[in-house]
Amino acid sequence: MLRLAVLGHPIAHSLSPAMHRYALGSLGLKGSYEAWETPLEALKDRLEEVRQGYRGVNLTIPLKEAALLFLDWVSPKAQAIGAVNTVLSVEGRLFGFNTDAPGFLEALKAGGIPLEGPALVLGAGGAGRAVAWALKEVGLEVWVWNRTPARAEALAEAFGLKAVSLERAREARLLVNATQVGLGDPGASPLPPELFPEAGAAVDLVYRPLWTRFLREAQARGLKVQTGLPMLAWQGALAFRIWTGLLPDPRGMEEAARQALEGE
Ligand SMILES: NC(=O)c1ccc[n+]([C@@H]2O[C@H](COP(=O)([O-])OP(=O)(O)OC[C@H]3O[C@@H](n4cnc5c(N)ncnc54)[C@H](OP(=O)(O)O)[C@@H]3O)[C@@H](O)[C@H]2O)c1
Repeated sequence: MLRLAVLGHPIAHSLSPAMHRYALGSLGLKGSYEAWETPLEALKDRLEEVRQGYRGVNLTIPLKEAALLFLDWVSPKAQAIGAVNTVLSVEGRLFGFNTDAPGFLEALKAGGIPLEGPALVLGAGGAGRAVAWALKEVGLEVWVWNRTPARAEALAEAFGLKAVSLERAREARLLVNATQVGLGDPGASPLPPELFPEAGAAVDLVYRPLWTRFLREAQARGLKVQTGLPMLAWQGALAFRIWTGLLPDPRGMEEAARQALEGE
Protein backbone atom coordinates (compact mmCIF):
# COMPACT_ATOMS: atom_id res chain seq x y z
CA MET A 1 0.00 0.00 0.00
CA LEU A 2 1.39 3.36 -1.10
CA ARG A 3 1.28 5.97 1.65
CA LEU A 4 1.56 9.48 0.27
CA ALA A 5 0.76 12.94 1.61
CA VAL A 6 1.17 16.66 1.14
CA LEU A 7 2.72 18.66 3.98
CA GLY A 8 2.24 22.38 4.40
CA HIS A 9 0.56 25.09 6.39
CA PRO A 10 -2.26 25.86 5.86
CA ILE A 11 -3.10 22.67 3.98
CA ALA A 12 -6.85 22.13 4.42
CA HIS A 13 -7.71 23.51 0.94
CA SER A 14 -4.98 21.72 -0.98
CA LEU A 15 -6.09 20.26 -4.30
CA SER A 16 -3.31 17.65 -4.19
CA PRO A 17 -5.34 14.92 -2.41
CA ALA A 18 -8.02 15.07 -5.14
CA MET A 19 -5.40 14.93 -7.90
CA HIS A 20 -3.37 12.11 -6.41
CA ARG A 21 -6.39 10.02 -5.45
CA TYR A 22 -7.40 10.28 -9.10
CA ALA A 23 -3.87 9.19 -10.08
CA LEU A 24 -3.94 6.16 -7.74
CA GLY A 25 -7.41 5.14 -8.94
CA SER A 26 -6.69 5.63 -12.63
CA LEU A 27 -3.69 3.27 -12.39
CA GLY A 28 -5.48 0.76 -10.21
CA LEU A 29 -3.04 1.24 -7.31
CA LYS A 30 -3.92 0.76 -3.65
CA GLY A 31 -2.81 3.71 -1.60
CA SER A 32 -3.66 6.81 0.35
CA TYR A 33 -2.83 10.50 -0.03
CA GLU A 34 -3.38 12.65 3.03
CA ALA A 35 -3.16 16.39 3.64
CA TRP A 36 -1.03 16.80 6.72
CA GLU A 37 -1.02 20.15 8.50
CA THR A 38 2.70 20.89 9.05
CA PRO A 39 3.97 24.25 10.26
CA LEU A 40 7.65 24.97 9.72
CA GLU A 41 8.65 23.99 13.26
CA ALA A 42 7.06 20.53 12.82
CA LEU A 43 8.83 19.73 9.54
CA LYS A 44 11.79 17.83 10.98
CA ASP A 45 9.60 15.47 13.04
CA ARG A 46 7.15 14.97 10.18
CA LEU A 47 9.95 13.98 7.84
CA GLU A 48 11.07 11.39 10.39
CA GLU A 49 7.60 9.85 10.16
CA VAL A 50 7.84 9.95 6.36
CA ARG A 51 11.15 8.12 6.62
CA GLN A 52 9.48 5.33 8.59
CA GLY A 53 6.19 4.67 6.85
CA TYR A 54 5.65 6.66 3.62
CA ARG A 55 6.60 6.23 -0.03
CA GLY A 56 6.79 9.97 -0.38
CA VAL A 57 5.30 13.41 0.19
CA ASN A 58 4.77 16.71 -1.55
CA LEU A 59 5.82 19.88 0.21
CA THR A 60 4.17 23.24 -0.14
CA ILE A 61 4.26 26.67 1.56
CA PRO A 62 6.16 27.24 3.86
CA LEU A 63 8.33 24.10 3.72
CA LYS A 64 9.92 23.91 0.26
CA GLU A 65 13.12 25.79 1.10
CA ALA A 66 13.59 24.55 4.68
CA ALA A 67 13.32 20.90 3.67
CA LEU A 68 16.75 20.97 2.02
CA LEU A 69 18.28 20.87 5.50
CA PHE A 70 16.64 17.60 6.50
CA LEU A 71 17.03 15.37 3.44
CA ASP A 72 19.70 12.77 2.73
CA TRP A 73 20.02 13.71 -0.94
CA VAL A 74 18.75 16.62 -3.04
CA SER A 75 18.67 16.57 -6.84
CA PRO A 76 20.95 19.07 -8.60
CA LYS A 77 17.86 20.79 -10.05
CA ALA A 78 16.22 21.24 -6.63
CA GLN A 79 19.53 22.40 -5.25
CA ALA A 80 19.94 25.00 -8.00
CA ILE A 81 16.38 26.26 -7.47
CA GLY A 82 16.75 26.13 -3.69
CA ALA A 83 13.42 24.39 -3.16
CA VAL A 84 12.11 20.83 -2.83
CA ASN A 85 8.46 20.04 -3.54
CA THR A 86 8.71 16.24 -3.75
CA VAL A 87 10.29 13.81 -1.29
CA LEU A 88 10.85 10.12 -2.01
CA SER A 89 11.48 7.75 0.88
CA VAL A 90 13.47 4.59 0.14
CA GLU A 91 14.82 2.27 2.82
CA GLY A 92 14.70 5.03 5.41
CA ARG A 93 16.52 7.55 3.24
CA LEU A 94 14.89 10.76 2.00
CA PHE A 95 15.49 12.05 -1.53
CA GLY A 96 14.40 15.56 -2.57
CA PHE A 97 13.27 16.76 -6.00
CA ASN A 98 11.70 19.81 -7.61
CA THR A 99 8.88 19.08 -10.07
CA ASP A 100 7.56 22.67 -10.13
CA ALA A 101 10.13 23.72 -12.74
CA PRO A 102 9.66 20.83 -15.20
CA GLY A 103 5.92 20.81 -14.44
CA PHE A 104 5.70 24.45 -15.49
CA LEU A 105 7.46 23.73 -18.80
CA GLU A 106 5.38 20.61 -19.53
CA ALA A 107 2.20 22.59 -18.89
CA LEU A 108 3.28 25.30 -21.34
CA LYS A 109 4.05 22.68 -23.98
CA ALA A 110 0.79 20.82 -23.44
CA GLY A 111 -1.17 24.08 -23.62
CA GLY A 112 0.53 25.29 -26.80
CA ILE A 113 2.03 28.33 -25.07
CA PRO A 114 4.99 29.36 -27.25
CA LEU A 115 8.37 29.37 -25.53
CA GLU A 116 9.30 32.81 -26.79
CA GLY A 117 11.16 35.47 -24.89
CA PRO A 118 11.81 37.80 -23.42
CA ALA A 119 9.92 36.23 -20.53
CA LEU A 120 9.02 38.39 -17.57
CA VAL A 121 8.51 36.58 -14.28
CA LEU A 122 6.54 38.63 -11.76
CA GLY A 123 7.57 37.50 -8.29
CA ALA A 124 10.84 36.25 -6.81
CA GLY A 125 9.48 33.91 -4.13
CA GLY A 126 9.68 30.11 -4.30
CA ALA A 127 7.46 29.78 -7.38
CA GLY A 128 9.19 32.68 -9.15
CA ARG A 129 12.57 31.02 -8.61
CA ALA A 130 11.38 27.69 -10.07
CA VAL A 131 9.76 29.32 -13.10
CA ALA A 132 12.69 31.66 -13.79
CA TRP A 133 15.12 28.74 -13.54
CA ALA A 134 13.02 26.62 -15.92
CA LEU A 135 12.70 29.37 -18.54
CA LYS A 136 16.39 30.12 -18.39
CA GLU A 137 17.14 26.39 -18.77
CA VAL A 138 15.28 26.26 -22.08
CA GLY A 139 17.29 29.19 -23.36
CA LEU A 140 14.88 32.12 -23.04
CA GLU A 141 15.93 35.61 -22.09
CA VAL A 142 14.38 35.95 -18.62
CA TRP A 143 13.55 39.15 -16.78
CA VAL A 144 12.34 39.25 -13.22
CA TRP A 145 10.34 41.83 -11.32
CA ASN A 146 9.48 41.73 -7.63
CA ARG A 147 7.63 44.08 -5.27
CA THR A 148 10.69 44.04 -3.04
CA PRO A 149 13.40 44.84 -5.61
CA ALA A 150 16.30 43.43 -3.56
CA ARG A 151 14.77 39.96 -3.87
CA ALA A 152 14.53 40.26 -7.67
CA GLU A 153 18.10 41.47 -7.82
CA ALA A 154 19.33 38.54 -5.71
CA LEU A 155 17.47 36.08 -7.94
CA ALA A 156 18.76 37.75 -11.09
CA GLU A 157 22.29 37.53 -9.83
CA ALA A 158 21.98 33.90 -8.73
CA PHE A 159 20.58 32.70 -12.07
CA GLY A 160 22.20 35.18 -14.48
CA LEU A 161 18.94 37.02 -15.30
CA LYS A 162 17.94 40.67 -15.47
CA ALA A 163 15.96 42.44 -12.73
CA VAL A 164 13.67 44.98 -14.43
CA SER A 165 10.97 47.54 -13.71
CA LEU A 166 7.32 46.57 -14.20
CA GLU A 167 7.10 48.83 -17.28
CA ARG A 168 9.29 46.38 -19.22
CA ALA A 169 6.25 44.06 -19.34
CA ARG A 170 5.24 45.88 -22.54
CA GLU A 171 8.29 44.41 -24.32
CA ALA A 172 7.94 40.86 -22.99
CA ARG A 173 6.46 37.99 -25.03
CA LEU A 174 5.72 35.71 -22.09
CA LEU A 175 4.39 37.01 -18.78
CA VAL A 176 4.18 34.79 -15.72
CA ASN A 177 2.46 35.86 -12.53
CA ALA A 178 4.36 34.07 -9.77
CA THR A 179 3.28 36.53 -7.07
CA GLN A 180 0.43 35.90 -4.68
CA VAL A 181 -1.49 38.82 -6.12
CA GLY A 182 -4.95 37.70 -7.23
CA LEU A 183 -5.05 34.80 -4.78
CA GLY A 184 -8.54 34.92 -3.26
CA ASP A 185 -9.15 38.32 -4.83
CA PRO A 186 -10.69 38.46 -8.33
CA GLY A 187 -10.18 42.25 -8.39
CA ALA A 188 -6.40 42.26 -7.82
CA SER A 189 -3.69 42.02 -10.48
CA PRO A 190 0.08 42.50 -10.27
CA LEU A 191 0.14 44.31 -13.63
CA PRO A 192 -1.73 47.50 -14.60
CA PRO A 193 -3.73 46.77 -17.79
CA GLU A 194 -1.85 49.36 -19.86
CA LEU A 195 1.41 47.46 -19.35
CA PHE A 196 0.40 44.27 -21.17
CA PRO A 197 2.34 43.70 -24.40
CA GLU A 198 0.60 43.67 -27.77
CA ALA A 199 1.37 40.03 -28.47
CA GLY A 200 2.47 36.90 -26.68
CA ALA A 201 1.19 34.85 -23.78
CA ALA A 202 0.40 35.14 -20.09
CA VAL A 203 0.37 32.43 -17.44
CA ASP A 204 -0.94 32.85 -13.92
CA LEU A 205 0.29 30.43 -11.26
CA VAL A 206 -2.58 31.49 -9.01
CA TYR A 207 -5.58 29.19 -9.49
CA ARG A 208 -7.94 30.44 -6.80
CA PRO A 209 -9.92 31.92 -8.52
CA LEU A 210 -9.15 30.11 -11.75
CA TRP A 211 -9.78 33.18 -13.90
CA THR A 212 -7.80 35.91 -12.22
CA ARG A 213 -7.94 39.55 -13.22
CA PHE A 214 -4.41 39.20 -14.64
CA LEU A 215 -5.60 36.45 -17.03
CA ARG A 216 -8.85 38.17 -17.94
CA GLU A 217 -7.01 41.37 -18.84
CA ALA A 218 -4.34 39.44 -20.76
CA GLN A 219 -7.03 37.66 -22.74
CA ALA A 220 -8.86 40.92 -23.44
CA ARG A 221 -5.58 42.22 -24.82
CA GLY A 222 -5.44 39.27 -27.22
CA LEU A 223 -2.73 37.27 -25.46
CA LYS A 224 -2.77 33.49 -25.24
CA VAL A 225 -3.45 32.52 -21.62
CA GLN A 226 -3.01 29.59 -19.24
CA THR A 227 -4.38 29.20 -15.72
CA GLY A 228 -2.42 27.77 -12.79
CA LEU A 229 -4.10 24.35 -12.98
CA PRO A 230 -2.05 22.73 -15.78
CA MET A 231 1.18 23.43 -13.88
CA LEU A 232 -0.35 22.14 -10.67
CA ALA A 233 -1.41 18.94 -12.44
CA TRP A 234 1.94 18.44 -14.16
CA GLN A 235 4.05 19.00 -11.06
CA GLY A 236 1.80 16.44 -9.35
CA ALA A 237 2.03 13.92 -12.19
CA LEU A 238 5.84 14.20 -12.26
CA ALA A 239 5.96 13.76 -8.46
CA PHE A 240 3.77 10.66 -8.78
CA ARG A 241 6.18 9.28 -11.34
CA ILE A 242 9.07 9.77 -8.93
CA TRP A 243 7.20 7.74 -6.29
CA THR A 244 5.93 4.95 -8.56
CA GLY A 245 7.71 5.03 -11.93
CA LEU A 246 4.30 5.59 -13.55
CA LEU A 247 3.10 8.83 -15.14
CA PRO A 248 -0.60 9.40 -14.52
CA ASP A 249 -2.62 11.38 -17.08
CA PRO A 250 -2.04 15.05 -16.18
CA ARG A 251 -5.31 16.04 -17.88
CA GLY A 252 -7.19 13.67 -15.58
CA MET A 253 -5.37 15.12 -12.57
CA GLU A 254 -6.21 18.63 -13.75
CA GLU A 255 -9.87 17.70 -14.12
CA ALA A 256 -9.88 16.22 -10.59
CA ALA A 257 -8.37 19.46 -9.27
CA ARG A 258 -10.92 21.53 -11.19
CA GLN A 259 -13.79 19.53 -9.74
CA ALA A 260 -12.39 19.90 -6.22
CA LEU A 261 -12.07 23.65 -6.83
CA GLU A 262 -15.63 23.92 -8.11
CA GLY A 263 -16.89 21.96 -5.12
CA GLU A 264 -15.46 24.50 -2.64
N1 LIG B 1 0.09 26.53 -10.11
C1 LIG B 1 1.02 25.94 -9.38
O1 LIG B 1 1.33 24.76 -9.57
C2 LIG B 1 1.74 26.72 -8.33
C3 LIG B 1 2.95 26.25 -7.79
C4 LIG B 1 3.61 27.02 -6.83
C5 LIG B 1 3.04 28.22 -6.41
N2 LIG B 1 1.85 28.64 -6.94
C6 LIG B 1 1.26 29.94 -6.53
O2 LIG B 1 2.22 30.95 -6.78
C7 LIG B 1 2.07 32.01 -5.83
C8 LIG B 1 3.41 32.35 -5.20
O3 LIG B 1 3.84 31.23 -4.42
P1 LIG B 1 5.29 31.20 -3.73
O4 LIG B 1 5.49 29.83 -3.21
O5 LIG B 1 6.31 31.78 -4.63
O6 LIG B 1 5.07 32.22 -2.49
P2 LIG B 1 6.20 33.06 -1.73
O7 LIG B 1 7.51 32.38 -1.77
O8 LIG B 1 5.58 33.41 -0.41
O9 LIG B 1 6.35 34.42 -2.61
C9 LIG B 1 5.29 35.33 -2.69
C10 LIG B 1 5.55 36.32 -3.82
O10 LIG B 1 4.39 37.16 -3.96
C11 LIG B 1 4.84 38.53 -3.85
N3 LIG B 1 3.76 39.35 -3.31
C12 LIG B 1 3.00 39.07 -2.21
N4 LIG B 1 2.10 40.07 -2.04
C13 LIG B 1 2.32 40.97 -3.04
C14 LIG B 1 1.71 42.20 -3.40
N5 LIG B 1 0.68 42.73 -2.69
N6 LIG B 1 2.16 42.85 -4.51
C15 LIG B 1 3.18 42.34 -5.24
N7 LIG B 1 3.80 41.18 -4.95
C16 LIG B 1 3.36 40.51 -3.86
C17 LIG B 1 6.06 38.48 -2.97
O11 LIG B 1 6.82 39.66 -3.13
P3 LIG B 1 7.77 40.22 -1.93
O12 LIG B 1 9.09 39.50 -2.11
O13 LIG B 1 7.86 41.67 -2.20
O14 LIG B 1 7.10 39.87 -0.63
C18 LIG B 1 6.75 37.24 -3.55
O15 LIG B 1 7.37 37.52 -4.79
C19 LIG B 1 1.01 31.52 -4.83
O16 LIG B 1 -0.22 32.10 -5.18
C20 LIG B 1 0.98 30.03 -5.05
O17 LIG B 1 -0.29 29.47 -4.75
C21 LIG B 1 1.20 27.90 -7.88
